[in-house]
Amino acid sequence: MKTYNIALIKGDGIGPEIIDEAVKVLDAVSSSFDFDFKYEEVLMGGCAYDETGDPLPQETIRIALKSDAVLFGAIGGEKWDNLPREKRPESGLLRFRKELGVYANLRPAIVYDELINASSLKPEIIKGVDIMVVRELIGGIYFGEPKGRDDNKGYNTMVYTKDEIVRIAHQAFKIAQKRDKRVCSIDKANVLDVSQLWRDTVTEVAKEYPDVELSHMYVDNAAMQLVLNPRQFDVMLTGNIFGDILSDEASMLCGSIGLLPSASVGEKIGVYEPIHGSAPDIAGQGVANPIATIGSASMMLRYALGEIEAADQIDNAIKRTLQEGYRTGDLSQFDAKEVCSTSEMGSIIANYATKK
Ligand code: IPM
Ligand code: MG
Repeated sequence: MKTYNIALIKGDGIGPEIIDEAVKVLDAVSSSFDFDFKYEEVLMGGCAYDETGDPLPQETIRIALKSDAVLFGAIGGEKWDNLPREKRPESGLLRFRKELGVYANLRPAIVYDELINASSLKPEIIKGVDIMVVRELIGGIYFGEPKGRDDNKGYNTMVYTKDEIVRIAHQAFKIAQKRDKRVCSIDKANVLDVSQLWRDTVTEVAKEYPDVELSHMYVDNAAMQLVLNPRQFDVMLTGNIFGDILSDEASMLCGSIGLLPSASVGEKIGVYEPIHGSAPDIAGQGVANPIATIGSASMMLRYALGEIEAADQIDNAIKRTLQEGYRTGDLSQFDAKEVCSTSEMGSIIANYATKK
């Protein structure tokens, strides 16, 4: 029997509720395979600040680095919004990504037929959408120097080095090879020097992948094309901030941001997390949608642990649950046969994910 060590970061807001459901599903699915999980819970975000004065305690990094993977809920909330920037939950998350070196953030946006009416867009526009946003995660304007502010001026710097662009581009092309073999690289090369370097470098890397078709698009146009004709996209390759924005937009094609999982990977270890935030307004009520987090657990099985069959079982269980009309509150107006709580949703998926 193999045991996988998973670092669990529940975080703030709805984080603990959704992580509990992902753990429920992982344990259920592992019962039909010869592996199990050992979880170690560590702190990050507002709860870590409250307990230790630091949104990212050193202990969290230490445990994460010796685990097989990190499963993470969400962080942040109004309560901590007025702290100095380096004490804010978001700073903890950014430092965490940087320390772990998870430079590639994979954000799939798949429109389920069962939820075709849940999107604000017309069914004929979104049917069959299957996009993978590959977002650079530890560079760009989020981390560039110089940055600062005084009473009169605030500034950040968008910086990319060639090496940083090369490694994320390779990720995008490799992923595209396993999909529809199309990469659309997003930039603002008509205005920004950093984007021109991005475009030139991606074009160079593309030569190593003659089987993949590369196109380039300005980010403003990409935002428009995503709602005009989203099926044109297979893999969207983006820098940090453009990917942050476009992945939220892509999530709305799918009906609810509560559905979208993500994987952040690098050379060392991966972090698996829903793309949504901590939703403090609904925290503790048992109404959050756990599907994005359960989907992230499935990505963890697939990408970090190589347990493809188990990952497929979870993905199929999610599909079946939606097909049968089970919905959490966020999707209750869309073809719901039964509206369920966070924990009921987790139990239904766990049950379907267990091979009988
Ligand atoms: C995300 C979030 C984070 C980001 C915040 C919470 C720092 O929006 O993961 O998309 O901007 O990367
Ligand atoms: Mg975001």
